Amino acid sequence: MEKPVKVGLLGLGVVGTGVLEILADHQEKIEKSIGCPLTVTKALIRPTEDKDEMAKKYNLQLVHELTDIIEDPEIDIVVEVMGRIEPAKTFIAEALKAGKHVVTANKDLLAQHGSELASLAHEQKRNLYYEASVAGGIPILRTIANSLAADDIQEVLGIVNGTTNYMLTKMVTEQLDYDTALKQAQELGFAESDPTNDVDGIDAAYKMVILSKFAFGMTINMDQVKVKGIRGLSGNDVTVADQLGYTVKLIGSTVKQGDSIAAEVGPVLVPSDHPLASIHNEFNAVFVKSSGIGESMYYGPGAGSRPTATSIVADLMTIVNKIQLGTIGHRFSEYTQPTKLTPPEEIVSKYFLSLKMPDETGQFLQLAEIMAKAGAGLEQVVQEKAQVENHARVVVITHKMSETTMSQIQKDIAEKTNFELLSTMKVMGE
Ligand code: HSE
Repeated sequence: MEKPVKVGLLGLGVVGTGVLEILADHQEKIEKSIGCPLTVTKALIRPTEDKDEMAKKYNLQLVHELTDIIEDPEIDIVVEVMGRIEPAKTFIAEALKAGKHVVTANKDLLAQHGSELASLAHEQKRNLYYEASVAGGIPILRTIANSLAADDIQEVLGIVNGTTNYMLTKMVTEQLDYDTALKQAQELGFAESDPTNDVDGIDAAYKMVILSKFAFGMTINMDQVKVKGIRGLSGNDVTVADQLGYTVKLIGSTVKQGDSIAAEVGPVLVPSDHPLASIHNEFNAVFVKSSGIGESMYYGPGAGSRPTATSIVADLMTIVNKIQLGTIGHRFSEYTQPTKLTPPEEIVSKYFLSLKMPDETGQFLQLAEIMAKAGAGLEQVVQEKAQVENHARVVVITHKMSETTMSQIQKDIAEKTNFELLSTMKVMGE
């Protein structure tokens, strides 16, 4: 048995604790796989934190200075599980410059500064791995980078935020309203400490930036992802969608058309017989359409201490393998393509529109005229009494049209009618 590979942890919260547990509980298998023990010897915590009991249990030294870890010649790999941008970004950069390999689960950081950190790792001939940053326990990045390496991916659709999937599930199955569903998700600990990034789609967008790089080799930034969350989504819309044969899901998508891609996050009506419609509660799934394999879907827990830690420890083991083979310094995903974005006039889909209009003769005709002028056909129409007296609530599902056509319709509704456009969502399907 070779000498142990030593690891320094930056942060000892829920995920850091999970790393210690997985290393301890699965020690025998890990050692047999990599041929040496893998052990955390030091953890960086804030001076205000009390982690003495844990340090004793896992036989590790608690430190308050980064230098205690990155200047320790015994430590080969640093695991960053602090979250947020700073000081995590500086700490990772310092660790790489000090010659350490780095594993992180930090999606916010990777989506915004991933290229810079990956280039630094490459320059330093060190590895930077981050399997846990997308969909926690689902091994999706390595699957795309390795198992789908020979395939031509056309689209990646993901339910990559557990908080919103939990909320939407409860809104459909228990008719909970938005606020009650959010409160429950927070109590169960799925949401970020500030759930803004969850409900506004930002957390999912971070993950789609990373997935776009792996699937298409293109580096996009957050401004290039069209993001809409589920804040304020009405229970009524979710229920009508259900009646029309659709399940509302917060879908992150990155889709290739020719040599360009479009990345987006938003609530989407998913046909109830599509595999993504069956992903319930806090679970995540990533659906991949590719020319070789066809359709494949990867399902599992998108967060949580042990699932996330399992992905982190697998990254650690991959690095140990590479150290042993002398093949360090390659990027997690080597595939690179020039970034090109699909223009809005070429991005087409069906749409769901929910409107409130006066319950008077000729009102619907106005809507029909606007749609006809834009060249948009109607596939389904539902009208019911609105809660406001003398008003009707009209829901339509259109045929496929471009984002530009949809914007024109929204503009015409605002300028030419006294309808209230309550919501719009994309609808998946042909
Ligand atoms: N808040 C995130 C979620 C955690 O709800 O999925 C995992 O990134």
